[in-house]
Amino acid sequence: MNAPLAAVPADAGALPVEDRLFAALAEGLRGRGHAVCPDALPDTLQESLLTHLRQMPDSQFHRAGIGRQQDFTLAGSVRRDAICWINGESPAGQAWLNWSAALQTRLNRELLLGLFSFESHFAHYGPGDFYRRHVDAFAGEANRRLSLVAYLNRDWQPGEGGELVLYTAEGELRVSPRLGTLVVFLSEEFPHEVLPAARDRYSIAGWFRVNTSSAQRIDPPR
Ligand code: OGA
Ligand code: MN
Repeated sequence: MNAPLAAVPADAGALPVEDRLFAALAEGLRGRGHAVCPDALPDTLQESLLTHLRQMPDSQFHRAGIGRQQDFTLAGSVRRDAICWINGESPAGQAWLNWSAALQTRLNRELLLGLFSFESHFAHYGPGDFYRRHVDAFAGEANRRLSLVAYLNRDWQPGEGGELVLYTAEGELRVSPRLGTLVVFLSEEFPHEVLPAARDRYSIAGWFRVNTSSAQRIDPPR
């Protein structure tokens, strides 16, 4: 007789930390299309990202645009964060890309998502900055399939705002941008927004993409 299909392997407790985390993310995605995991970022990765952020000059961040138009006047009413794409030039950025690649492999194996590439950026929201309700991909138009957000703010207090609000079928899900919290969700399915915060707010936002290249159109790496 076949064993019943379990969302998390029965021996999950014995798996290494990373394996358990990847299993939890896969389980959330499979069941609800999203998952929120506090204290999820591996310690060494988290520390190196924090150290890297601390010594990054402001000049490396630029105002974020929206869509492919990069219309910054319009963008200013929609989002106010400043971003820096992660390309693997720094050891911390490379460690993040390696970790994301491991997650991609695992999710492809468990959920057959066909994730093909990954793009991500650091984001800095100054006090009062926001990102209005939006979706990361429009069905049939874009190849962003899965969104991943990681938070890098030590000692975030409940009164400081800056929550990510995810609009789900079960209602609003509010996530504080606390250090180490990870969020994944299907890019086309969940409108979400970033509420203004009382202090500087740092995150990494990333997107796993599927390959939609055709003879007419070759997907750029980004
Ligand atoms: C985004 C985004 C959420 C966050 O960059 O598209 O929704 O909490 N970011 O930083
Ligand atoms: Mn988004």
